[in-house]
Amino acid sequence: MNKEEWKNYKRYGIEHLWECENNGWISALYDSKVLSLLRNIPIIIKKQFIKYHKLRFKIIQKPVIPVLEYVVTTKCTMNCKNCNTLVPYFTNDTHIKAIKFETFKKDLDTLLKSVDYIQLFGFVGGEPLLNDDLPQMVEYACKQRKIKHVFIATNCTIIPNEKLLKALKHKKIGIQISNYTHVKNIKGGITVKHYEVKDLLQKNNIKISNPHEATNSNNWQTMPKIYPDYQDVDEVIKNYNCCSGRFCYMLSDGLILQCCTSVYMVRNLKLTETVKEEIVDIRNAQNSKELTKNIIKFLSKPYSQFCHYCHFVDMKYGLPCGEQVEEEVNA
Ligand SMILES: C[S@@+](CC[C@H](N)C(=O)[O-])C[C@H]1O[C@@H](n2cnc3c(N)ncnc32)[C@H](O)[C@@H]1O
Ligand code: SF4
Repeated sequence: MNKEEWKNYKRYGIEHLWECENNGWISALYDSKVLSLLRNIPIIIKKQFIKYHKLRFKIIQKPVIPVLEYVVTTKCTMNCKNCNTLVPYFTNDTHIKAIKFETFKKDLDTLLKSVDYIQLFGFVGGEPLLNDDLPQMVEYACKQRKIKHVFIATNCTIIPNEKLLKALKHKKIGIQISNYTHVKNIKGGITVKHYEVKDLLQKNNIKISNPHEATNSNNWQTMPKIYPDYQDVDEVIKNYNCCSGRFCYMLSDGLILQCCTSVYMVRNLKLTETVKEEIVDIRNAQNSKELTKNIIKFLSKPYSQFCHYCHFVDMKYGLPCGEQVEEEVNA
């Protein structure tokens, strides 16, 4: 690594680790009482934290990924108009139907060889509980020394079965349970069972967090208009720095991507060469050393090329979560 690369990795890789540690959504999935108390004295802790991670990187020479979400399917039981993964706007051809355990295992084994560790590893969709191999995947992820915490984000339309419950009873696990109980017009007569899921998880001593609790399920925003473009870089950086997409890298069908919205872009839009260059293809890396290098480069960027496609116009915030599209857009 040359001087410039080290400078960028320090600024955008290591500093970002600290930002993620202090992001409420992330830490809610694994924080202990002691940790949350320590976070109240951030200046002292931050210095030590950065120092420790610089030293650690110098010794191990592999990056830490703060948050990585694995897409097990883009299919969903709901059809939310403002879904940040744009699920209703995929077509039958562009959906990821259901990733098989063997594929997942191969991806994870490949990835873990090339990184120091992953602080928070998530299973997301669409609705991840639609994937029958989820229990096996969860069990496998929890066994990995290089994965510190594991989460699943669910819309609570499916009650976890015995097999999944067994896998979820692990100290690394946190479940993010969305609260869409007010949504009554879901296609196919599907209903939200938020309280049943919550009860079941609590009875089994499984850690939960509800991202909608503080706002009484009124914390959604409209999505930016998405189309291929090259916008002014200053504008793009400004948007990137305020975007929640900075906090959740994705692993989607073998590709490491910036955010959940870029999962939609990769599968549904024509990408420019500049955007393609940012993507890390873990299934086609020549060896683990090359993959390590590519991941470091990915983590060292000041903003994402995908942001050029996101146009923040007429944005609305504080909307009720999970409003459904009137009719299915792409059957
Ligand atoms: C894409 S969902 C996937 C998991 C699951 N299907 C669900 O809805 O909980 C992941 C998270 O993103 C949130 N989300 C989706 N669209 C959003 C939006 N437009 N504004 C704010 N949060 C959003 C959901 O509420 C959920 O907590
Ligand atoms: S936000 Fe809605 S449509 Fe999108 S994945 Fe979650 S439940 Fe499905």
